[in-house]
Amino acid sequence: MCGIVGYLGKKEKTISVLIEGLKALEYRGYDSAGIAYQKENKIKITKSVGRLQNLEQKIKIENTVLGIGHTRWATHGKPSTTNSHPHQVGSITLVHNGIIENYIELKQFLEKHNYQFQTETDTEVATALIDYCYQETKNMISALKRAQKELKGSYAFAILNNEEPNILYAMKKESPLILGKTKEELFLASDPMAICAYTNNICYLKEGSILKLEPKKITLIEENETIPIWVTLDMEQTKCSKNGYDHYMLKEIYEQPDVIYNTVMPYLENNLENLHKMPNFNQYEKIQIVACGSAYHTGLVGKWMLEGVGNIPVEVEIASEYRYKKVFYDKKTLVIVVSQSGETADTLASLRKANKDNIDTLAIVNVITSTIAREAKYVLPVKAGIEIAVATTKAYLAQLALFSLITLKLMIEKKLIENEELEELLAHYQKLPIKIKKLLKELNVKELASKTYKNEDIFFLGRGIDYAICTEASLKLKEISYIHSEAYAAGELKHGTISLISKKTPVFSLVTDKEISEKTISNIKEVKARGAYSIVITTGQLDEKSDYYDDKIVIPNTHFLLQPILNIIPFQLLAYEIAKLRNCDIDKPKNLAKSVTVE
Ligand code: M6R
Repeated sequence: MCGIVGYLGKKEKTISVLIEGLKALEYRGYDSAGIAYQKENKIKITKSVGRLQNLEQKIKIENTVLGIGHTRWATHGKPSTTNSHPHQVGSITLVHNGIIENYIELKQFLEKHNYQFQTETDTEVATALIDYCYQETKNMISALKRAQKELKGSYAFAILNNEEPNILYAMKKESPLILGKTKEELFLASDPMAICAYTNNICYLKEGSILKLEPKKITLIEENETIPIWVTLDMEQTKCSKNGYDHYMLKEIYEQPDVIYNTVMPYLENNLENLHKMPNFNQYEKIQIVACGSAYHTGLVGKWMLEGVGNIPVEVEIASEYRYKKVFYDKKTLVIVVSQSGETADTLASLRKANKDNIDTLAIVNVITSTIAREAKYVLPVKAGIEIAVATTKAYLAQLALFSLITLKLMIEKKLIENEELEELLAHYQKLPIKIKKLLKELNVKELASKTYKNEDIFFLGRGIDYAICTEASLKLKEISYIHSEAYAAGELKHGTISLISKKTPVFSLVTDKEISEKTISNIKEVKARGAYSIVITTGQLDEKSDYYDDKIVIPNTHFLLQPILNIIPFQLLAYEIAKLRNCDIDKPKNLAKSVTVE
């Protein structure tokens, strides 16, 4: 999603800080980019569609102390040079993350005041509005305060005024924006990744902040604050390289044994000391899990764990629906939001909805400095480290592990687990990282990928917990390989979708839940009878001569609460290998963004 970088500092450094900052934000997804900088009391703008190298080729390296840069992920108007940021109207040049919801009425108002518009964007309207307010007052802070009253929606702006050289303004609401500093330089960014090469001294701007940056001087206008609260960025969180792998996604898949170790072990040490410090889940009568995309899929697995094993009713909701619907919760409800980035707009809005109603909230979140992590009542950190590939793998896996730990805590609180079984489960946790490592070493899905990558439809079947895993398997495949795919609860297929199964349609069936495996096998037979190319993924020893599958993958067994953590791994690798055979841009799939900061 869109990215912002701003710089006020050393004249020989500005352009490179902007470009390197934008490069560091590439992982978030974008379709065009641009920069603006001040040169001899003028603002110069360069923009371009497509990858950053197109922009780099156009940029003239000049000495300048002040500049702003942007990567755009189109929302209003197609990706084009005209629609890309920075936008300039009158005295104002700015870049914007977020969505201005009332831009049509603002546009009509501004047109009556002789403003003309060149683009299809909401951002150009915001630029004109700030210019309009500035021309009335000739005072930028008053202008920004006034614009703030008129603008509806979300925004993080970095703003230049060509009548005020050497000054960088910023303003934010519901879109992340941080300020960074060194002795002689000031930075703005929508994500610490953009500036962590230069400083670890940062300040997270609060809702409604207005900021004026002059050389070595910061003026902050916030509701209760005029002095920035500086924090030290954990640089470990920002380190990233492919480490010899062809893609970040593959590297992140192979990091999973360590990620599970780092996420789980702190809870198991010292006689489960940290597990006991988790909130008391037994005080709740219901749990609502709210998230988007893969994080929603972990919620589906979490529901199975918490209901099936922890014996508590669970509702799993898509955040973009939850935020606008009538929700039934009370003091006995715990709302769990799940997010890798901690900035997903709909998940954040859902969290705020529950917070506003004084409902207890808990965030399972990877980016620990994110807005969601800062606003939730309780936080369980996912120790996945920075995840660069748009398709999540290691963060998803660690989220599953945290749901298993919440379930374990609940089982202990409710006395649903005897000592002996607890010891056995803890031993399985200890062995889990090694099992994942072994599975990754031994799995070879390349042949299966080569048999299936030319298909345009692939299906994933499972029941219960296996179906929940299939939803993620299907998303992984479609987001990086662009193959149409669906996950189906095995028993539901014959109620319509089986009509899509024809000769050689690949159907991957996950069969690990022994209690209902016979039922799933009956459903596999139904698709096989219709000509499907059937691949079974199982923990059991299936009959070698069976007539209901053409290929199989065997996954090692573990405790049933941890089994889903192993089950997804073959599907992650399969999606990766298929996407590779189709020459897809695996780490940056088309149309997708790593962090979806607009609704
Ligand atoms: O950062 P979040 O976990 O809140 O993101 C939610 C989804 O946008 C995300 O999981 C998305 O579905 C991924 N591309 C899946 O790989």
